[in-house]
Amino acid sequence: MSDFLSKKEIKSIKLWISKMNYYKNSIKSQRANKAKEILQLKYKNIGNGWQRIVYDLNNGYVLKVALTKKGIQCNKREFKIYNHCLADLRKHLCRVKEVGHGWIIMKKMSIKVPKRIYQEKLPRLKKKFLAAGIKPRDMSNSNVRLSKKGKITVIDYGHFIRY
Ligand SMILES: Nc1ncnc2c1ncn2[C@@H]1O[C@H](COP(=O)(O)OP(=O)(O)OP(=O)(O)O)[C@@H](O)[C@H]1O
Ligand SMILES: [Mg+2]
Repeated sequence: MSDFLSKKEIKSIKLWISKMNYYKNSIKSQRANKAKEILQLKYKNIGNGWQRIVYDLNNGYVLKVALTKKGIQCNKREFKIYNHCLADLRKHLCRVKEVGHGWIIMKKMSIKVPKRIYQEKLPRLKKKFLAAGIKPRDMSNSNVRLSKKGKITVIDYGHFIRY
């Protein structure tokens, strides 16, 4: 079923997703804590956004689990955008490996983009996405990383829109 997750892990993600709605009005940290408690995953939690909680799978990949309904949408969108966009743009998108209901597995990317490079290169990259029919929403510095080849790569493109 999954090359990365066990049946038990997928089951606990399913359980969390089924309960997620009870916590829709909780504050961000409370929701993430509740998710952790229910998920009971053995992996290290390396990041929390508004929509997703992120775990390090310790094999060069990360697991993002939705914390909200929007988070489920973000995962779906990243999977679709990654698989449908042209190679020239794909090299700027963090590689998606697997997806399931409410979760997605991506390459782990740790090198933050230095402010100078971000300011210098981001406007052109944004234009490139727009020219390809993708509105690159929310490309803040916390949502991008540098690839080994020094390319700016988006790790959170769940808010991108294809038009
Ligand atoms: N591919 C990745 N490699 C390493 N760290 C990551 C990766 N994806 C996400 N993270 C970490 O987890 C955090 C949250 O992930 P992400 O931004 O995808 O969640 P989100 O809920 O969609 O965010 P937002 O609050 O911007 O909507 C990131 O800011 C980053 O620190
Ligand atoms: Mg984010």
